[in-house]
Amino acid sequence: MKKTLTTLTIVGLLAGGTAFAQDYSAQLKARQGEMRIMAINLGILGSMAKGETEYSAEAAQAAADTLVAVSMIGQAPLWPAGSSEMDIEGTRAKAEMWDNLPDVLDKWAAFGDAAKVMQAAAGEGQAALGPALGTVGGTCKACHDAHRAPAN
Ligand code: HEC
Repeated sequence: MKKTLTTLTIVGLLAGGTAFAQDYSAQLKARQGEMRIMAINLGILGSMAKGETEYSAEAAQAAADTLVAVSMIGQAPLWPAGSSEMDIEGTRAKAEMWDNLPDVLDKWAAFGDAAKVMQAAAGEGQAALGPALGTVGGTCKACHDAHRAPAN
């Protein structure tokens, strides 16, 4: 009996029992990391659109393909309830996000649609990048304005 209780306690600890504070550091790294990947690749495309970097159809296509790939990452596991800026340190996710999950998912889907527009445009020459960039950038801003807390 004693052994069974001990085993149950250990299993409870491993499962992250509700009596213990949750550690969301992996989820924060993952969701902030995917955002960084998006920003890096948007930066590559933006630099080519402005002529700061020489246009390369191959590099532009790779950046656009990466945006589409990130848009297909399942988001639900990265945003567990209790991981807002009101709950834990190290995040700018507003608590209201969890009251507006359909809106968050709509805005993520809008980013995915815009990434596909970029994917179709990226190989079509430097002049094609600008309009598609505007479309993608607008979807980043829409979600940040609604769901990301200001930097401290
Ligand atoms: C559906 C909503 C949504 C969309 C779309 C979105 N973001 Fe974000 N982004 C967030 C939220 C929420 C955070 C704060 C996450 C956190 O701190 O836990 C964030 C954080 C970031 C960060 C900071 C990451 C860090 O290291 O703390 C960057 C950079 C970023 N986003 C770039 C982008 C770019 C570029 C796009 C568009 C290509 C984009 N985001 C689209 C919601 C979104």
